[in-house]
Amino acid sequence: MEMDYWVSIPKVELHAHLNGSVRDSTLLELAKELGEKGIILFSDVEHVILKNDRSLTEVFKMFDLIHILTTDHDTVTRITKEVVEDFASENVVYLELRTTPKRNDSRGMTKHSYMEAVVEGLRRVDAFNIDFALTETELWKKGTSCQRNNECGCLSKRKIYVRLLLSIDRRETLEAAMETVKLALDMRNLGVVGIDLSGNPKVGEWTTFLPALRFAREQGLRVTLHCGEVPNQEEIHGMLDFLPERIGHACCLEEDAWRKLKTSKIPVEICLTSNIRTNTISSIAVHHFADLYSTKHPLILCTDDSGVFSTSLSKEYAIAAAAFGLGKKEMFQLAKNAVEYSFAEDKVVSELKDFFDTVEAEFSL
Ligand code: IMP
Ligand code: ZN
Repeated sequence: MEMDYWVSIPKVELHAHLNGSVRDSTLLELAKELGEKGIILFSDVEHVILKNDRSLTEVFKMFDLIHILTTDHDTVTRITKEVVEDFASENVVYLELRTTPKRNDSRGMTKHSYMEAVVEGLRRVDAFNIDFALTETELWKKGTSCQRNNECGCLSKRKIYVRLLLSIDRRETLEAAMETVKLALDMRNLGVVGIDLSGNPKVGEWTTFLPALRFAREQGLRVTLHCGEVPNQEEIHGMLDFLPERIGHACCLEEDAWRKLKTSKIPVEICLTSNIRTNTISSIAVHHFADLYSTKHPLILCTDDSGVFSTSLSKEYAIAAAAFGLGKKEMFQLAKNAVEYSFAEDKVVSELKDFFDTVEAEFSL
């Protein structure tokens, strides 16, 4: 099937890391600027940015480099705007974007100001009609409430809903993780809907963060955990017992854990290209998507890091359709079902369901 088709269908993205989704062209531009200032050696990083195959360890080295390039307020704002516009332009209608709030004393950055820069990026999206839980005053300021009779043109633009998840990095301390959860709670009116645990799976113990994750849950935030990127069965069992609202990957589960996952019905965020590129799964032919799909286990196709892995959600749909023999109808249903597993408020879920129903009827899918 044509790539155009996968681009054209409405899609839902639930597992995308902000700094992993930055365009190569932006990274190169930022690297050039830092090279000119003598902060980095451009020739050293150019080939790293353009490299395509990366092991799991190399991926985390790449993130350290990306963070050097992106972690100042203006750049965080820029990449947020660009990432949202990139997803919207391939017909992602709901994007749950996750990012790790960062403190960087040398740039006068706190976790709070980092997140303000992210939200500023959302405000600057102008090519699309963005809904990210703006407060009424902000809606009025931006003019998207359309008390101006659509003079701003917002109603004629394609709409994308964006909600945010704040990530805890496994390198962090419990105290830093708590700060992230409190920040998420403070920013609920700006579209923060949950907490993610991510970072190098070979680093740290997930149990360090349990008090912060429990606190998040008690306060009504949803939780998703990167689970089973490495074959640490004790950790996998612990994570499944916690019953997060979703998990990412679920690659290295032995039989017991696999059974537990199936019984739990915890929705799984599947990132095909990411798993193959990092060698977490040896080939698409043996990917657990097939098992989950055939047993109707809740699953969502996602990109993980569209920049780092040179992919897009449309490409992931094309890959899944080809590899698992799924047709247009099945793939459309997959996109539609993803709405159910989003962490958005009921009103948004119901608007999205109506939207998918309309498209389904229009195209007799
Ligand atoms: P950020 O949170 O916006 O800075 O996005 C990049 C960060 O997401 C990385 O530094 C990791 O902590 C996390 N991340 C991205 N991809 C992966 C993955 O495949 N496994 C675990 N963590 C990841
Ligand atoms: Zn991830």
